[in-house]
Amino acid sequence: MVVSKAVIAREPTHPLAVNWSLEDVDVHAPGDGEVLVEMRASGICHTDILLTSVSLLIRFFFFFLTFIFNVALAKSELGAGIVRDVGKNVHAVAVGDPVLLSFHSCSSCEQCKDCHPAYCDEFGQENYVGRKRSMSLRKNGEIIWTRFFGQSSFAQYSIVSEASVVNAKELLHHDHELELFAPLGCGFQTGMGAIQNIAAAGIAETVMIIGMGAVGMGALMTAKIRNCKAIIAVDRIKDRLELAKTLGASHILNTSDPSFTTLNEATRNLSAGGVSVVIDTTGVPTLIEQGIQSTTARVGPRDLGMH
Ligand SMILES: *[C@@H]1O[C@H](CO)[C@@H](O)[C@H](O)[C@H]1NC(C)=O
Ligand SMILES: *[C@@H]1O[C@H](CO)[C@@H](O)[C@H](O)[C@H]1NC(C)=O
Ligand SMILES: [Zn+2]
Repeated sequence: MVVSKAVIAREPTHPLAVNWSLEDVDVHAPGDGEVLVEMRASGICHTDILLTSVSLLIRFFFFFLTFIFNVALAKSELGAGIVRDVGKNVHAVAVGDPVLLSFHSCSSCEQCKDCHPAYCDEFGQENYVGRKRSMSLRKNGEIIWTRFFGQSSFAQYSIVSEASVVNAKELLHHDHELELFAPLGCGFQTGMGAIQNIAAAGIAETVMIIGMGAVGMGALMTAKIRNCKAIIAVDRIKDRLELAKTLGASHILNTSDPSFTTLNEATRNLSAGGVSVVIDTTGVPTLIEQGIQSTTARVGPRDLGMH
């Protein structure tokens, strides 16, 4: 057992406001197929805030956090750390290995066997509810829910399943590089998967990406790698737009510029044919609506899921 500090998210006392506190917890020994990870990098994702600011049936909700990404902005997406202990039947990692963390999948359902773990039958239960076994509050022994998004990485130590870890031993030269790799666990793979697997965008495509956080930047870099004809990056924060340009955006749209009206008008000015792929990472209804209005007639909406 190790003692750790952890952020505990309790049921909100005010509507739509998080109720988090930093507390001491006991982290128990890893069980069958589980790994104890000492976190080195973590960050906050919109999903953390969203899911902990609404009332949940579960009372204690211990949440995950993510990485430290580009420039000044905040933290987003997923943990990375060092393996400190392994339970029985763990084969992918050994004590001392650096690991990146992602969501949990069962490895045995049809979707998992077909190499689509993001569509695992148990995804919702395992990642948005988690498990109640490996951690308890130091002050009163109360067992709390853990493994949020497979990891509950906003803690010094956490128990995760083997399915959630990627062994980064061969990738890293220094431990501090974990901070750079951490966003691969959620933001980057979400953005990359949207462009590569869902939209399958290629050289004929004009891509518009709304919101240049980790998901948007992942989508942007993938569109660049796939040589998309034009890439329009949309945001309202100067640093993000500037970074987007250096990462390959052919156009930027600054929604905080006073001359900005709507996405459809702005994209008509940029690309006579409209855009053929729109990736929204903001969840802002007006932008989603304008994004759809900006698309060419041939394109239908596709559900990329919510992030
Ligand atoms: C976006 O517009 C705002 C408001 O006009 C301006 O302060 C900012 O410099 C612009 N950012 C970029 C990258 O053009
Ligand atoms: C589009 O172009 C017109 C004509 O140049 C200009 O008046 C308008 O401000 C532009 N709209 C946007 C949103 O950039
Ligand atoms: Zn599965």
